[in-house]
Amino acid sequence: MLCNLTDYESAARRRLPKAVFDVIAGGAGDEVTLARNRAAFADLSLRPRALADVNARQLSSTVLGMPVSMPVMLDPCGYARMAHRDAELAVARAAAQAGTIYALSTISSVPLEIVAGATDAPKWFQLYPPADRDECSRLIERAQVAGFRALCVTIDGALAGLRERDKRNRLTVPLKLGPRLLLEGASRPRWAVDFLRGGAGRGDQGFGAMARPQLLRNAGAAIAATARAITAEEIEFIRQRWRGPLIVKGLQRGDECELLLSLGIDGIVVSNHGGRQLDGVRASIETLPEVVEAVAGRAEVFLDGGVRRGTDVFKALALGARAVLVGRPYLYGLAVAGEDGVRQVLEMLRFELDQTMALAGCARISDIDHSHVEVQRTGQAKPGASAADPTPRSRDRHHGLESV
Ligand SMILES: Cc1cc2nc3c(=O)[nH]c(=O)nc-3n(C[C@H](O)[C@H](O)[C@H](O)COP(=O)(O)O)c2cc1C
Repeated sequence: MLCNLTDYESAARRRLPKAVFDVIAGGAGDEVTLARNRAAFADLSLRPRALADVNARQLSSTVLGMPVSMPVMLDPCGYARMAHRDAELAVARAAAQAGTIYALSTISSVPLEIVAGATDAPKWFQLYPPADRDECSRLIERAQVAGFRALCVTIDGALAGLRERDKRNRLTVPLKLGPRLLLEGASRPRWAVDFLRGGAGRGDQGFGAMARPQLLRNAGAAIAATARAITAEEIEFIRQRWRGPLIVKGLQRGDECELLLSLGIDGIVVSNHGGRQLDGVRASIETLPEVVEAVAGRAEVFLDGGVRRGTDVFKALALGARAVLVGRPYLYGLAVAGEDGVRQVLEMLRFELDQTMALAGCARISDIDHSHVEVQRTGQAKPGASAADPTPRSRDRHHGLESV
């Protein structure tokens, strides 16, 4: 029975060949950060209010001026075709139905124009900026013309992380139907049929959002080309070209916010790439307060990494995130039941967030403040706000919190 997001992960494990499941589930190195992203949520305890009227609740919010039915969005994840042949189209449709935003990856398996046209819902485009400036400008222009509402530049990809699961599985992108995958596919017939019906077995895995058409035939090289350092000067270049909200994804320090803000960014995703890049860094939820404090309301701050429960969403909002994004959970939903699976994952998070709000005494998203969480590690509780200050803070106000 699929009762929660962990059940979707287990179901996806049963459905996908090991090599494919490992691409999604794995992290870098010893996967310390991957585990920490989850554990750090458990270190935060909730502090519910009792005497609030929560009989009617509202989960809707806005993100950079775009309405969302709940503050949960879908992260950019390449390789979606590996999970299901409907790939990014299914994700975009499910996001639209759920009334939330999908950030399409540069390494989408479906051309960005097709995903953009699939629904009317606002979407973000995630950019791995091509090194060639003309190419970069052309890709930005394509995203602009296609109607993406915001551009999200990933800044934590100087190199691909150390993904030892992929190495052990001898994974190639695009997936090649070698003896190993054929053997695994035989025990995963539903996936194998879906994969072959999608044309993916012929190496046609799309990667159509890529800037360089000649690289479409070589998705592996195309993905490798995305791994490079992004400098402040490059963000400036992108800022001059993109007409709309600009977001950076992958920030892990408060002391870099001032520079980013001076470059004119509108949003920051606190992210360690789901523990897939540098292993040994803090959990995103541990970094969030320092970024929120440094930004001091001058941009919107988002978080991803390890969000698996409505209570996790609630905790991130309490620590100052405007909204969260999820990555692996929707890929698991996609693997299990395509578009429906992604929708079910989103509805599960909605249900759990609503329940958390009711039980914590919050009728609206703006009622969630840092007094609702405390850090509980080695038995020492550190309240997020003093009991003498029961006033819920405004979502936009600066609210420093000592490092968690
Ligand atoms: C299979 C996979 C592919 C990903 N591809 C991208 C990508 O193309 N661009 C990007 O910025 N982040 C990418 N990410 C990272 C996610 O956007 C996100 O930061 C991470 O998955 C969040 O952690 P979570 O999976 O615990 O929710 C990818 C993650 C996974 C699992």
